[in-house]
Amino acid sequence: MTFQLPDLPYERDALAPHVSAETIEYHHGKHHAGYVRKLNEAVAGTRFADMSLEAIVHESDGKVFDNAAQHWNHSFYWNCLSPRGGGDPSGTLAEKIRDAFGDLGSFRKAFDEAASGVFGSGWAWLVRDQKGGLAIRQTANAENPLLRNETALLTCDMWEHAYYIDYRNAKKKYLAAFWQLVNWRFTADRLAG
Ligand code: FE2
Repeated sequence: MTFQLPDLPYERDALAPHVSAETIEYHHGKHHAGYVRKLNEAVAGTRFADMSLEAIVHESDGKVFDNAAQHWNHSFYWNCLSPRGGGDPSGTLAEKIRDAFGDLGSFRKAFDEAASGVFGSGWAWLVRDQKGGLAIRQTANAENPLLRNETALLTCDMWEHAYYIDYRNAKKKYLAAFWQLVNWRFTADRLAG
């Protein structure tokens, strides 16, 4: 089995001005593509070659894990953004956010703090934990919620390559852009799934 770079669910310039076409060209076309290429090179001829991506994330370490998890994380991240995103969640998702965080503003604040507090490269996540409630997680480098058997619902890529072209070191501006693009429909589908 050979892993493939997934097509973006929108055009490269569709997220502008919040995330520029140049960022997407590098982030999807070079960084994500590089993880997929290195993953294929690393698993060739090994016991991982016929495993699903999720199984590899669970069972590997080192270079195989790093590239497998980054392939998974980025494939997930693209779906968390939408040119028709932003606004507020509704329905069951909104109720679960209120149950866990009090209100939407408090959730956004807590998520922003977790995201901007990632030291070095990493990710911020909204997850459904093993008890069924919602929680915010930070992960370092390529790590993700699969490792804790939690269901990822939403993520924000906090590697510098996600925002440095558009916002330099201004993580808060990138996070404000993220909320303009957030694809609540995808998150609601994950929660229902
Ligand atoms: Fe990234």
